Amino acid sequence: MEIIRAEKMGFCFGVKKAVETCYEIAKRKNVNKYILGMVVHNKDVVREMENIGFITLDEEDILEDKDPLKKGDVVIIRAHGTTSKIMEKLKRKEVEIKDATCIFVDKIKEILIEREHEGDEIIFIGDKDHPEVKGIISFGEKIHVLKNIDELKESSLDRGKRYTVLTQTTLNKEKFQEMKEYLEKYYSNAQIFDRICGATSERQEATRKLSRTCDIVIVIGDLKSSNSKKLLEVALAENTNSYLVQNEKELDLTLFSENMKVGITAGASTPEDIIKKIENKIRGNFNV
Ligand code: F3S
Repeated sequence: MEIIRAEKMGFCFGVKKAVETCYEIAKRKNVNKYILGMVVHNKDVVREMENIGFITLDEEDILEDKDPLKKGDVVIIRAHGTTSKIMEKLKRKEVEIKDATCIFVDKIKEILIEREHEGDEIIFIGDKDHPEVKGIISFGEKIHVLKNIDELKESSLDRGKRYTVLTQTTLNKEKFQEMKEYLEKYYSNAQIFDRICGATSERQEATRKLSRTCDIVIVIGDLKSSNSKKLLEVALAENTNSYLVQNEKELDLTLFSENMKVGITAGASTPEDIIKKIENKIRGNFNV
């Protein structure tokens, strides 16, 4: 048996930093420690954070003042960031804010604020219900959120206005390209910023490549994480013998046999620790 890892897999830069921030803060004694929402879309990581002393906060509770926060408590903002309203509330509560918003998300927010200040309206390409998008657009006022090319074609944009076009970091590149070409053709008054983060597409591309050459593909990730599910889809398109596994306890060893080439990949929210445990379980059973 041979076990091959995808060239790119596991925690992305932003998530890694956010989790490191949590471990750093966990060392502090005699202070209440909170994380705003799920630090990572992975149940095992959330459980681990609870074990080291964090309490997960609900954004709705903060907005409605139903949270347990007191002056001096520490609150970590996850990699996706949060809304301006939540930030204001937290400041008013005089908690210590540890902002672990990914720098790529922050950069988009910065451009948005700057360009609005200069008089532009913002065309934001992304899913308005995604926490990252909700967070970024909350810092602006004149924003048109468009999900896809159909919404763009139906939108009533004005050729006489100046627009800045921004995107969700995890936007699909092909989808963006299609919308970019349309905007360039019909709206020369729009300045387009490509701020898509490569982490998602790199992991998908590496999974595609891996799946073609292996007998079985194990995608490691939370069963509810959209990026892990997407990786499974990519793997299945190349190799029908592909499975999404949350942790080593759920790994079915009867799927494997001695002479297999086993491909392993993981989404941007899957920690190395879980990946290693799965690898070791396979190795232990087949003497690899
Ligand atoms: Fe940041 Fe990209 Fe990850 S925007 S949180 S590095 S997917």
